[in-house]
Amino acid sequence: MTSFTLKGVSSDTGARRGELRLPHASLPIQTPVFMPVGTLGTVKAMTQEELSGLGFSLILGNTYHLYLRPGHELVRKAGGLHKFIAWDGAMLTDSGGFQVFSLQDLRKITENGAAFKSHIDGSEHFFSPERSIEVQHALGADIIMAFDECPPYPSTYEQTQSATERTHRWLTRCVAYHKEQASEQLLFGIAQGGTYESLRIESAQFIAAQDTPGIAIGGVSVGEPPEKMLEAVSWSMPYIPKEKPRYLMGVGTPQDILQAVAQGVDMFDCVLPTRLGRTGTFYTMRGRINIKGSRYTEDFGPVDPECSCAVCRRYSAAYLRHLYKCNEILASRLTTYHNLAHYAQLMADIRDAIERDDYASFMQTRLAQYGRKND
Ligand code: GUN
Ligand code: ZN
Repeated sequence: MTSFTLKGVSSDTGARRGELRLPHASLPIQTPVFMPVGTLGTVKAMTQEELSGLGFSLILGNTYHLYLRPGHELVRKAGGLHKFIAWDGAMLTDSGGFQVFSLQDLRKITENGAAFKSHIDGSEHFFSPERSIEVQHALGADIIMAFDECPPYPSTYEQTQSATERTHRWLTRCVAYHKEQASEQLLFGIAQGGTYESLRIESAQFIAAQDTPGIAIGGVSVGEPPEKMLEAVSWSMPYIPKEKPRYLMGVGTPQDILQAVAQGVDMFDCVLPTRLGRTGTFYTMRGRINIKGSRYTEDFGPVDPECSCAVCRRYSAAYLRHLYKCNEILASRLTTYHNLAHYAQLMADIRDAIERDDYASFMQTRLAQYGRKND
């Protein structure tokens, strides 16, 4: 596969600089990259122009949600997801596995797939590996994900082994179905293995052997502590080919991302900057703060003096606090914008540090600045 090019590797960590060429991105995606989450075809509170303006050119959508609303056939009619949402960049869709499994009472898993009830109207549906790929073909994202079973945290060895081995059988089915359809979309496999070293190794080896154009590490950010997440990455990474893009699903905090990059991860997605943005939480260079706190009542300076985003250049902390206190819609808009600007800048700084071959010391400095708490 020629879609990913490794541009450089750091000499004192496993961090890498790369470029990912995708059909809908006019320029190669620079990695390590963060992908904002746009579950329903919208990164909540952001316009497509604002996302592009912040430098994002790859965003996420979710198969489960888009299949239920507006329906993949409608998206196909519109000319695909990019056209439907008027997005000039590239997209990745998650397979629906993770979202269906989080429905708990509303789902039933068998070897053939997952039966589930819509969280919207209770209607009954079924996703098999083939069906997930079929829906993802209709949606038309540049990168599509294999249909996997993500064991919850904590899970026993036996539960994790069963989910991991089923994920492997399902990947074989996803790959076979995808090949038949001659799609130009890139299908990434997902390694599981939970918190067990032997299963992580077995899974990374199995997924690597299927030769998909990219490999994801799944089964993290399911409530485990950050050390366990990094441990799972450290067990998997030696078995994932270095010439493939490596995607750590659902991660994470800035601290998580800094440390996973040091292990050689290239791609990230996470709801934190957008979801927490809507609750008044700002990511700053000195850690997370909540703007609703009374200490900001008369703070007429920017929320983050070290941020040069359009929000920090114009609006004061006191004004933003006022907007939250009054439940104004602009509050969510401005906070989300700033948080995504923070993540975009973090990734740009990470890429610069790798290029300077200064990643280890850059990471230590940043981790110290963010503070001890990993949030
Ligand atoms: N998002 C976060 N973790 C996972 C995972 O393990 N599988 C899938 N499909 N999506 C995820
Ligand atoms: Zn800002």
